[in-house]
Amino acid sequence: MKRRETYLAFGIPDFTDAEINAVTRVMRSGWVGMGQETISFERELSEYIGAPEVITVNSCTSALFLAMLVEGIGPGDEVIVPSLTWCATANAPLYLGATPVFCDVDPGNMSLTPETVKQNVSSRTKAVIVVHYGGRAVDVGALRQTLPRDIVIIEDAAHAFGARYPNGIRVGASGNSVCFSFYANKNLTTADGGAIALADPNKADRLRSLRMSGMVSNAWSRYIDPSSALKAELTELGYKMNLTDLQAAIGRVQLARFEIMATRRRDLAERYRKKFRNFPMPVQFQEGVFEESHARHLLVGIFDPSSTGMARNDILLALRQRNIGASIHYSPLHEMRLYAPYCSQRLPITEELAMKIMTLPISARMVPDDVDYVVDNLKELLECKG
Ligand SMILES: Cc1ncc(COP(=O)(O)O)c(C=O)c1O
Repeated sequence: MKRRETYLAFGIPDFTDAEINAVTRVMRSGWVGMGQETISFERELSEYIGAPEVITVNSCTSALFLAMLVEGIGPGDEVIVPSLTWCATANAPLYLGATPVFCDVDPGNMSLTPETVKQNVSSRTKAVIVVHYGGRAVDVGALRQTLPRDIVIIEDAAHAFGARYPNGIRVGASGNSVCFSFYANKNLTTADGGAIALADPNKADRLRSLRMSGMVSNAWSRYIDPSSALKAELTELGYKMNLTDLQAAIGRVQLARFEIMATRRRDLAERYRKKFRNFPMPVQFQEGVFEESHARHLLVGIFDPSSTGMARNDILLALRQRNIGASIHYSPLHEMRLYAPYCSQRLPITEELAMKIMTLPISARMVPDDVDYVVDNLKELLECKG
């Protein structure tokens, strides 16, 4: 096949003139820090998700860190996390001096399960971080029922904006602290950014202060409210982890366009599914990826060398040669130098998946021909080698 000229990345941001105009409007307004745009973005996120409180921050990493901080997690505590995830999931407990405890995942949906969590619960377990891998929501209600009440569930929904839990409600509306990422390759992006959705108004107030250095008021409230300008108050040591109005302006347009972008992802996933029906060998995809409830942030297939006749890494490198940005989500954390000392057990399903999974490009920016290019190249490659 003829090699395409441009690189097909797995998560190209979908920006239009509307995002560009929104940024320009804020730049011209004279206020680019955290202010009215951020307040509006938070209100719109709260309405869309169906969560009473939404606090924006500068990344999902910060969201996870702050969510754990308000739960009082610290030295001596254990936090159960999957190993098949981005490092931010395990870094958050480590920042606070807690110990990440790695658990295995389900081979079909690639997320932790009540059983894999339960095997790792100890008297020191303070929290579990659920990762909605790829954009498929974990049944956090079922997990809650199997865990002692004092173990907190925090959700890493970096992949799952717009996804729905098995009970039909949107990810973020569970009542837990649910952390989103608006990083450049995410389904909704502000270049970098994040948010925590939750139900508890007291925790929400504390999060608002913690993201802004621990101040009770912020620069915007002091600007618009003379009484708040007269005396600033600091209650505790906070952090500088807020979003800016420039980013919120992008986010508001992305949110308004979200259903259009989600429909494109759904149609592209459907095209992948149809194309793989005529594939020379069966390829399994992450469970649920073709269902409406999935956010389809990642389209993850299992490329088993015993059926493809080719090692996954060789397939990936050959696709890169053809300008196809296939990638791996993820190299397991418990095998990495930083985290290996935290894990003395094997995680057989994670380790096996890690050898076989490959993420194929999907983004709202892609067109059906891009899917055809990926699948036809894969087919050509595997027919030659298989
Ligand atoms: C599962 C998961 N958690 C957390 C993060 C961190 O997100 P951010 O880059 O917004 O800090 C990512 C980022 O890709 C992720 O994939």
